[in-house]
Amino acid sequence: PLLEQCYNLHDFEAVARRVMKRTAWGYYSSAADDEITMRENHSAFHRIWFRPRVLVDVEKVDFSTKMLGTPCSIPIYITATALGKLGNPEGEVVLTRAAHKHEVIQMIPTLASCSFDEIVDARQGDQVQWLQLYVNKDREITKKIIQHAEKRGCKGLFITVDAPQLGRREKDMRSKFTDPGSNVQSGSTTDTSQGAARAISSFIDPSLSWKDIPWFQSVTKMPIILKGVQRVEDVLKAVEAGVQGVVLSNHGGRQLDFARSAVEILAETMPVLRERGLENKIEIFVDGGIRRATDIIKCLCLGATGVGIGRPFLYAMSAYGQPGVDRAIQLLKDEMEMNMRLIGCTKVSELHPELLDTRALSVH
Ligand code: FNR
Repeated sequence: PLLEQCYNLHDFEAVARRVMKRTAWGYYSSAADDEITMRENHSAFHRIWFRPRVLVDVEKVDFSTKMLGTPCSIPIYITATALGKLGNPEGEVVLTRAAHKHEVIQMIPTLASCSFDEIVDARQGDQVQWLQLYVNKDREITKKIIQHAEKRGCKGLFITVDAPQLGRREKDMRSKFTDPGSNVQSGSTTDTSQGAARAISSFIDPSLSWKDIPWFQSVTKMPIILKGVQRVEDVLKAVEAGVQGVVLSNHGGRQLDFARSAVEILAETMPVLRERGLENKIEIFVDGGIRRATDIIKCLCLGATGVGIGRPFLYAMSAYGQPGVDRAIQLLKDEMEMNMRLIGCTKVSELHPELLDTRALSVH
């Protein structure tokens, strides 16, 4: 199908499924075990309804915002997804270019196919990037990666905390994986029988703990954000540890199956933070299953600063290259403008829990 025939983010998935190589499709689309969490990431949004305001002047709508101090045209960022060259021969730099065009932040994965420097070199103007970090058992390597990223201008360090071991993704395991040239770190063995994910991840340190946070704070001035937090108790610990943010996330359903969806955790977290006067002490990001502007708006109403989107951009990039990613972001912007109008809001600061009916959530 022509790119113009993609009318929403789901359409890119349908096209990608048909045109992508089986191994690449298997790696991108898979999730852990029975993929219950991946499905829940979508269905949780179906339990949240709007309570729109009418007769509000919505002629002018502005949904630009700031994340960790950086201005963005829309409250989304391109989250870290490994192995970009499986889907597109140019890899992650395709996402970098689209992110620049739309004034959206890109999170660079530790396990990118392009080298870190290639992705930074593809940056234009005052474009902002963040680094996603898998922590190596060898802390000297980790320190070098962090300090190099800071020197090259990365504006945030997102430490992935939900993957002491990578989840078992059977769809990925079934397709025979060959490494397209990821920048694999020392300590990994490339045993491809367990799928792409396992093959590239054996360097990750399963002993990482709360005790390590001060060390990260001592080696960098970048804001530190914990990616993959899944309960309010850990959000409170993150505040106490003095980090600047958390990403409520279950890794796109790729880690612990039966982990709850981030939006449920958000609904549980924000009232606790507000009750304790901590809501301005930490920025809360959310990812997993976000496909529509209504999903974005729901997260913002509940108190998120911004949301990460993963697979849809991989699918757009794999099926259509950069024009695909451009269109995917543009579609979200168009949806955003319309839906802000329809709920009766003209700016992000007006998004509020009272615009939602969350009675069908398990927490409300
Ligand atoms: C991921 N994700 C991920 N996260 C991370 O911290 N480091 C990584 O290397 C990767 N790699 C990765 C590869 C692929 C193919 C996917 C789909 C996901 C998780 C990612 O950052 C994010 O949490 C989810 O993708 C969000 O869910 P959606 O938008 O894909 O539904």
